[in-house]
Amino acid sequence: MSDYYGELCTKLYESSKSLSEGKELDFYLSFIKDENMKVLEPMCGNGRMLIPFMQNGIRIEGFDISEEMLKVCKAKGEKLNLKPNVWYGKIEEYKGNHQFDLIIIPFGSFSLLPDALVDKSLTNLKSALKSNGKLLLTIMLKHSGIKEFPDWVETERVQFEDEWIITYKKVQYNEKESMLTTRFKYQSVINGQIRKTEMMDFPLRLYALEEFENTIKSNGFNHVVVHGVKDGYGEGTFFYVVECSM
Ligand SMILES: C[S@@+](CC[C@H](N)C(=O)[O-])C[C@H]1O[C@@H](n2cnc3c(N)ncnc32)[C@H](O)[C@@H]1O
Repeated sequence: MSDYYGELCTKLYESSKSLSEGKELDFYLSFIKDENMKVLEPMCGNGRMLIPFMQNGIRIEGFDISEEMLKVCKAKGEKLNLKPNVWYGKIEEYKGNHQFDLIIIPFGSFSLLPDALVDKSLTNLKSALKSNGKLLLTIMLKHSGIKEFPDWVETERVQFEDEWIITYKKVQYNEKESMLTTRFKYQSVINGQIRKTEMMDFPLRLYALEEFENTIKSNGFNHVVVHGVKDGYGEGTFFYVVECSM
């Protein structure tokens, strides 16, 4: 059995990636030109970006396929006296009633979609966008030196009061399909006893930037601008955001 962003994975994600801030947040907020703009965040997860947008008074809603991530997003919002408008939904099946000024998918999440779902998802996003709207996407890029791990290796152990969550992974790379597949095993250990084990298959589609730009254009977005965000996830980091419009 495989849990996708289940309880343990979500707890770890929230412990290290709760709320976006600094240069990453500033970058996304720079696309807000007036207070009436409506924003959609597919794959919003724990509200890492959605909640800071709400704190800035922006009308944003989002959806995700992980009930655990959505639960954390709602609970976190409540603590801040906010009521996030988030729901369970798959990007590849998304059919909304509204059109948005801005759609954002931060933190490489678009790479979680296998090729078979990419065109469908882009078509759905295009129909959800106003004619002068913008779509901001992040992807995981191909890079040299990918390391495969055929056997389990422990990657981290994090303590939450009396509970430890230990993460193990195996990694395999299919170069022909540009798919980096990690199998994660999360173990919750209390007083030396394993309380729960969670398995997660985590396939990532890696792109060359130019290849991704072509994918965007072949799906009807005529204008593509690539932004580089220096120090976006903290000092010394760098990532690209692909701005797409019709
Ligand atoms: C790495 S998290 C990132 C969450 C958020 N974008 C952020 O910036 O922190 C990726 C999220 O994408 C969601 N996800 C993966 N595939 C999805 C799909 N087909 N439709 C909707 N959400 C999906 C996962 O459940 C997970 O919560």
